[in-house]
Amino acid sequence: MHFLGETLADLEGAGLRRELRRIDGMPGTTVQIGGRDCVCLCSNNYLSLASRPEVIGAAARAVEELGCGAGASRLVAGNMALHEELEAAIARLKHQPAAILFPTGYMANVGAISALVSSGDAVVVDKLNHASIIDGCRLSGARMLVYRHCDADRLDEVLSRAGGYRRKLLVTDGVFSMDGHIAPLPEIAEACARHGAMLMIDEAHATGVIGPSGRGTQEHFGIVESRMPEPTIVMGTLSKAVGSLGGFVAGSRELIDYLKNTARSFIYTTALPPSVCAASLAAIKLIENDPQPLEKLRENTRLLAGLLEDMRPAGGGAVLQPWGQTPIFPVHIGEAARAVAISRELLESGYLCPAIRPPTVPSGTSRLRVSLQADHTHQQIHGFADALRRFMKMSV
Ligand SMILES: Cc1ncc(COP(=O)(O)O)c(C=O)c1O
Repeated sequence: MHFLGETLADLEGAGLRRELRRIDGMPGTTVQIGGRDCVCLCSNNYLSLASRPEVIGAAARAVEELGCGAGASRLVAGNMALHEELEAAIARLKHQPAAILFPTGYMANVGAISALVSSGDAVVVDKLNHASIIDGCRLSGARMLVYRHCDADRLDEVLSRAGGYRRKLLVTDGVFSMDGHIAPLPEIAEACARHGAMLMIDEAHATGVIGPSGRGTQEHFGIVESRMPEPTIVMGTLSKAVGSLGGFVAGSRELIDYLKNTARSFIYTTALPPSVCAASLAAIKLIENDPQPLEKLRENTRLLAGLLEDMRPAGGGAVLQPWGQTPIFPVHIGEAARAVAISRELLESGYLCPAIRPPTVPSGTSRLRVSLQADHTHQQIHGFADALRRFMKMSV
């Protein structure tokens, strides 16, 4: 078993070895590490809903009334009223006729993609799509065709070349997790309709975050339903702005029924626990009825965009996107070892913002991925920006 130790040593040598860090306390803007308070700048709990009393209360009541686990898969004995209510709430939030839940967003991508395409089909992907999309494509056995990040012209060319395949599916992140870029959805939707391709959009970082009322990428661009290709598959997760856990796909009733019958990561796994569904349901109601967290998140985003204006990456795709469109700020460093060193200094100063290294991002583009929450104070944001500026000047 030499390969275990050798691989770990190689990763260590390249500055790429990963280790778990224990985080204590509530998932807020301040967390405890080794007994010390640190400001957390790397969570996807964008709206700070994971610790909202309404969300915690809903989960606690569900545990009291319904216990801890669903006990079986949805199709056997695990289907509860809360699963159905949550699916209806997701469909409402995403303006789709129906939705299906998966235990995680990863499983939603893997299950849906491998159910929709297989050998003899083509799946067209953005170069920077999330790993769970790539894994779904690999599992499907379909031919994977990659286009330059957010480049609408290139994706049109790639779709033209895919003409000979039986089915074509284009999959893109709505908001790219490591760059904060927003996919050019109007152009993508038009190209898919023109080439007869299905469109699947991963709304993991868009749901609750972009669009006037936080409904996601389609709302951000104001695209009416009739301008979207048929079928459009809207995937997302409840683990980020919704503050809980679970993946979903929303779309036509026929699509959802098809996935209930064919998506293996839905069929062959235990249903989400009722408390998790109750938490998501309460959080979605807050997203629909309380605009304050999103307003605060946007105010914080504007503040940090101004403070870090000179650290804005030069390019990174077909288009230079506005800085601060989303609460995700990539601070490019380059070498993994330097990114790790800066992140370590930040932690020493009380700011948690781990280095993001290959294979999560392309080689030579290691970075700090700063992400904001609604509940960050201006003081926390100013303090972080000052510390970051200090350590970015440091030679390692
Ligand atoms: C774009 C994207 N899609 C899917 C996922 C997977 O979601 P989950 O964490 O719910 O498995 C993530 C997050 O990890 C993500 O960033």
